[in-house]
Amino acid sequence: HIEAVVFDLDGVITDTAHYHYLAWKQLADELGIPFDEDFNENLKGVSRVESLTLILANGNQSDAYTDSEIEDLASQKNEYYKQLIQQLTPEDILPGMKELIEEIRSESIPVGLASVSKNAQTVLHALEIEHLFDYCADVAKIKQSKPDPEIFLTVCEALEADPAQSIGVEDAKVGVQSIQGSGMYAVGVGSYLEQADLMVNETTELSWTQIKQAFLHKQ
Ligand code: BG6
Ligand code: MG
Repeated sequence: HIEAVVFDLDGVITDTAHYHYLAWKQLADELGIPFDEDFNENLKGVSRVESLTLILANGNQSDAYTDSEIEDLASQKNEYYKQLIQQLTPEDILPGMKELIEEIRSESIPVGLASVSKNAQTVLHALEIEHLFDYCADVAKIKQSKPDPEIFLTVCEALEADPAQSIGVEDAKVGVQSIQGSGMYAVGVGSYLEQADLMVNETTELSWTQIKQAFLHKQ
């Protein structure tokens, strides 16, 4: 049987992946660095400072800033992001996601959150879904970022679930790698996730019955 289902947040439960993109776009424009949706794919699931490092490298500006200037630039991006997420309401939960989580919970399967965002609690609060998670990863305690499996393993452990009997849901390539590295079954939502065990293009295509069947079939 299934022991836990662990979700990523940005881009899976709500479309904040787009707000991260807009905030980085604004900063990149100011720095004169080219930035588009394609490049942004590399940043999904990647931490704030690591994302900035990739953006600066893309603009050949890797050595242009001191560590403290880099901190300031990362904070600047976060200000733009916080501004954007101020408008989040429960209406911004991606179609079907709340129902999916409620269905899983109705079978007494624990549900966890594995987001590397320091804004995760703010986003959950704005969406009014904090109560749907039995455990949320504490980013401050995670040492290795995705694609390392640490975050998904930590959540499984907190939920007392065997990763091999658990399912992870991600929209990022590094996220799918993190799930699979932990031994969990990976469900990918979106594009470029061919590596996932089960892949759908949009949240509306996620059906709990189908996920369960696919998972049990793989065993
Ligand atoms: C991830 C996003 O969930 O969180 C990344 O996919 C983001 O785009 C990362 O960089 C860190 O988020 P934050 O809110 O701590 O800057
Ligand atoms: Mg994501």
